[in-house]
Amino acid sequence: MVHRRTQVAIVGAGPAGLLLGALLACHDIDAVIVEQRSAEYVLGRIRAGVLEQTTVDLLREAGVADRCLKEGLTHDGIELSFDGALHRIDFRALTGKHVTVYGQTEVTHDLMQLRAGGNLITDYEAEDVQIEGFDGEHPVVHYVKNGVVQELACDFIAGCDGYHGICRASVPRDAISTYEKVYPFGWLGILADVPPCDHELIYANHERGFALASMRSATRSRYYVQAPLDADLADWPDERIWDELAVRLGPQVAAKLERAPAIEKSLAPLRSFVAEPMRWGRLFLAGDAAHIVPPTGAKGLNLAASDVRFLAEGLIDACRTGAMDGLDGYSRRALARVWKAERFSWWFTSLIHRVPETGAFGRRMQVAELDYIRTSQAAQTTLAENYVGLPLD
Ligand code: FAD
Ligand code: PHB
Repeated sequence: MVHRRTQVAIVGAGPAGLLLGALLACHDIDAVIVEQRSAEYVLGRIRAGVLEQTTVDLLREAGVADRCLKEGLTHDGIELSFDGALHRIDFRALTGKHVTVYGQTEVTHDLMQLRAGGNLITDYEAEDVQIEGFDGEHPVVHYVKNGVVQELACDFIAGCDGYHGICRASVPRDAISTYEKVYPFGWLGILADVPPCDHELIYANHERGFALASMRSATRSRYYVQAPLDADLADWPDERIWDELAVRLGPQVAAKLERAPAIEKSLAPLRSFVAEPMRWGRLFLAGDAAHIVPPTGAKGLNLAASDVRFLAEGLIDACRTGAMDGLDGYSRRALARVWKAERFSWWFTSLIHRVPETGAFGRRMQVAELDYIRTSQAAQTTLAENYVGLPLD
């Protein structure tokens, strides 16, 4: 058995865990990351694509924003497509802010490079990860690496191990409340090396279902269509997805839609979920380990980043001076932002998808709301200020 000690044990090397590790390293706080998958697997996951300004600021603070600032695409607005026309929401004019299109894969890559360069320890392919002692003064993370049992003693555990992780599941059931909504549809995503069909993202409400035109770069596009939860990828050859996108995005956009073979294709279910509180003793949950949003407002990764900012502040104080106020306020502070992002993601999802379950009245409500957004600057401002990201405190 190998025994080690660190100040903060971080479970999970997704964006939340890696970013927390980077911020702690900036303040000379010792942290070890324990990840169950391989580095290649973590990098291969195609997920989020839109960063709020506060997320980019945090990457800058962690010393890892150079490539994002150079290669990220600045977007000053989005297009809503409904009723056969495009309607622009001008973030810059309405809020003075913008978002940056830069893939989660790239953020992860940059954070991994930083760890490698600083000789910071990340134990990939950790098996049978378990945590204990976090209700007292001496938390420990146990796992097996290359057949050898590892015991990592620490002052604090950061549970950054995503929705299916073990950290939230290790908290006594009656100590945590969960809130959940499962949507009756999913997103079928396709990634292809073609230039985007528009210079901004297009969110379409079409009678055949929602569609989203997004991108990763000037030469790589990411598209999604609303699909039944039980859709079988075998029934969705590339051409069917391109045809569906052409119809749902409308003729004006279809004329600029370039097709190519998919380099990735996946079906994601949509869920809203919050667990509270986000702290139990010396265990702190951050990111998807504590909450999930449907991807419609591009909030998942950004919420993980804001959790990490609040948590890093608390941990730095506690490790340096022993002051616990930051950590004591962590859950309340993070959840205040989480619930507002949950509200926005739920609202935008309900507005822009076809939801037969809500009946003819539900559809009329969508039509009225979309028309309200089209004609009201106040409504557009509400959408814009949530999309670009609410303030951090
Ligand atoms: P994760 O990225 O899930 O990272 C958690 C890490 O913990 C993983 O590396 C996992 O392998 C590891 N782990 C799990 N269990 C253990 C264990 N027992 N021991 C050790 N390590 C463990 N957001 C958007 O904004 N836009 C999108 O388009 C979008 N698409 C998505 C598609 C999918 C399929 C999913 C699952 C999420 C998507 N999201 C999207 C959400 C966004 O990607 C997440 O919010 C973001 O990844 C959260 O980061 P995280 O670090 O909290 O969690
Ligand atoms: C993406 O590019 O993957 C993306 C963009 C915006 C969203 C969701 C996903 O709302």
